[in-house]
Amino acid sequence: MNITDLGFIKGFIRMAADGYNKGWHERNGGNLTYRLKKSEVEEACSWFNQNAPLIKLDSAIPGLGGEYFLVTGSGKFFRNIEQNPNENIGICKLDEKGANYRVVWGLENDAVPTSEFPSHLMNHAAKIRAKGDSYRVVYHCHTTNIIALTFLLPLDANVFTRSLWEMITECSIVFPDGVGVMPWVLCGGFEIAEKSAELMKDYDVIIWAHHGIFCAGEDFDLTFGLADTIEKAAEILIKVLSISPDKLQTITTENFKELAKAFNVTLPEKFLN
Ligand code: 13P
Ligand code: ZN
Repeated sequence: MNITDLGFIKGFIRMAADGYNKGWHERNGGNLTYRLKKSEVEEACSWFNQNAPLIKLDSAIPGLGGEYFLVTGSGKFFRNIEQNPNENIGICKLDEKGANYRVVWGLENDAVPTSEFPSHLMNHAAKIRAKGDSYRVVYHCHTTNIIALTFLLPLDANVFTRSLWEMITECSIVFPDGVGVMPWVLCGGFEIAEKSAELMKDYDVIIWAHHGIFCAGEDFDLTFGLADTIEKAAEILIKVLSISPDKLQTITTENFKELAKAFNVTLPEKFLN
C-alpha cells in the first residue's frame, strides 16, 4: 500500500489526467487543489513529514487554519502527474493562523505549490464562508473555446451566462447561478486571488479573460463535470458564431422558467430578462 493508492489521491490524479486528455493543460497550464477531509488526513498521516520547513504565504488566509491541501506543483506538467505523482503533486498543511504552510508529502526535489496557490486558498476560504464545509475542489484549466469567447463577447456575466445556457438544455441546471467573468488580470498573484474570491461568493465558475476557467465544486466529479459542461457549451457557441452571428432560434426565457420549475432550481432574475 502506498499513499497514492488512497481514494482521494487516485481521484485527484484521474481528474488531472482527464483534464490533460481534454487538451486543457498544455505544458504546465492549469492547476488543481483538494481540501482533505478529516478522515482522509487520518488515513494518509502515517506518510506525512510534520517536521518539514515552514514556508510563509505572502498574506495570511483566515478560515483555513490547520487545513490540509493536495496541490499540483508550480511549473509541473499535468501529463506527468500520473507517471510521477511524488514530484508533481504534494500535500500542504496550513498552520493555525493560515499564514504559513509545510509540504508534508510529495513535491519532491524542491518543487513548490502552484503559483495560483493564493487564488486556490482564498477561494476555498470563500466557499467555506458561503457554503460551509461541503466544497473541496478548486480547479483552473485553459479551456480553448471559453478562452476564444473572451475575445468575442463582452466581458459581462449576463452575456456569458445567457449565451452559454442557451447552448445546451441542461446548462442552466448544471450551473444555475451562472458564470462570473473577470477582465484580464495578471496571473499567479494576490490580485487575481482577491478578485476571484469576491466572485466566488456568488458563482462556482469564474471565467478569467484570455486565460481560462477557474471553478470550485464539492467533489472531483462535480467540479470536472462543471468545467466540461461549460467548455462544451462554449464549443457549440463558437461553432454557431463561426457559421452565422444570427441564431434562427434558441432556448427562450420562458423555456428557462420551465426548466427551473421542472428541475427545482432557482435561476437568478438578472439572467432571465
Ligand atoms: P503553475 O504551473 O504555477 O500552476 O501555473 C500554471 C497556470 O496556469 C497559471 O495560471
Ligand atoms: Zn493558467
